[in-house]
Amino acid sequence: MQSQVTQIEEIISGYLPMEEGWAKTVMSAMNYSVNAGGKRLRPMLMQETYRSFGGTGKVIEPFMATIEMIHTYSLVHDDLPAMDNDTLRRGKPTTHVAYGEAMAILAGDGLLNYAFETALKAFEEEEDPKRIAGALQVLAKKAGIYGMIGGQTADIEAENLQDKVTLEHMLYIHEHKTAALIQAAMMVGAILAGATKEQVALVEQAAYDIGVAFQIQDDILDITSNAETLGKPIGSDERNHKTTYVTLKGMEQSMQEQKEMSAHAISLLQSLPHENEFLMELIRSLITRIK
Ligand code: IPE
Ligand code: IPE
Ligand code: MG
Ligand code: MG
Ligand code: MG
Repeated sequence: MQSQVTQIEEIISGYLPMEEGWAKTVMSAMNYSVNAGGKRLRPMLMQETYRSFGGTGKVIEPFMATIEMIHTYSLVHDDLPAMDNDTLRRGKPTTHVAYGEAMAILAGDGLLNYAFETALKAFEEEEDPKRIAGALQVLAKKAGIYGMIGGQTADIEAENLQDKVTLEHMLYIHEHKTAALIQAAMMVGAILAGATKEQVALVEQAAYDIGVAFQIQDDILDITSNAETLGKPIGSDERNHKTTYVTLKGMEQSMQEQKEMSAHAISLLQSLPHENEFLMELIRSLITRIK
């Protein structure tokens, strides 16, 4: 796992902007947020899914950097005072604490736009442009209003609904704010390796389970962990009056359902063309992760 993270970080840092010129501050804030660390789960899932379909080329690399830039921008904006108002992220002061709110907004915008500038570099690689176009289409949709931004919108509005949030509403939030980028990561890996439509649909379904289970564990850790281990403050959900999987279903039931979702994802992925024990183990490890 550690060597995977190191390898992924080398790829990501190769695509980060130089800090120079009159807009240097935004570039520095972008790099600060990405370089702060994190598990690099989305690029890892992307690369492993690519391998599971026999992919071996370099075309995956700009997309790995892209997904981490989009994810990091979502965190920078999620932490803003107008949203979850958190001051610690990946063990460091959040971007708005380190650079001020205006720069954090711009750094988020910058990362989102630069993410797509980076993905477009894939056309310089020797790969069927149709595959790259297909990957871009999925990425754009899953990151936007039909994906992560949609989920974040519903998450913020649900703060005022409290006990009126139904399970269906909650699942919309978890699917979109979190599972969508995990789906994008894995689907892009599959598409770039030449998976069929049916195979991509299966990956989308498995990544839904992985993503919702991942957010349930995030909700659990917000209650049971501590800031030092987690690298972000605990109690953020309660402070912001969020309805989470845990407030809706209780701790025990949440843990049980998370386990079932993870097992379901693994059983779906057993049918991929190449056996990938690392990917399976990675998915298994997510439901017991402590950060
Ligand atoms: C945090 O994601 C936001 C959620 C969707 C729960 P991660 O837990 O993957 O954060 P990093 O990338 O490791 O910091
Ligand atoms: C955020 O969910 C999901 C995003 C799209 C950023 P949370 O608000 O629970 O994520 P954390 O706990 O701050 O990482
Ligand atoms: Mg949030
Ligand atoms: Mg948050
Ligand atoms: Mg959380």
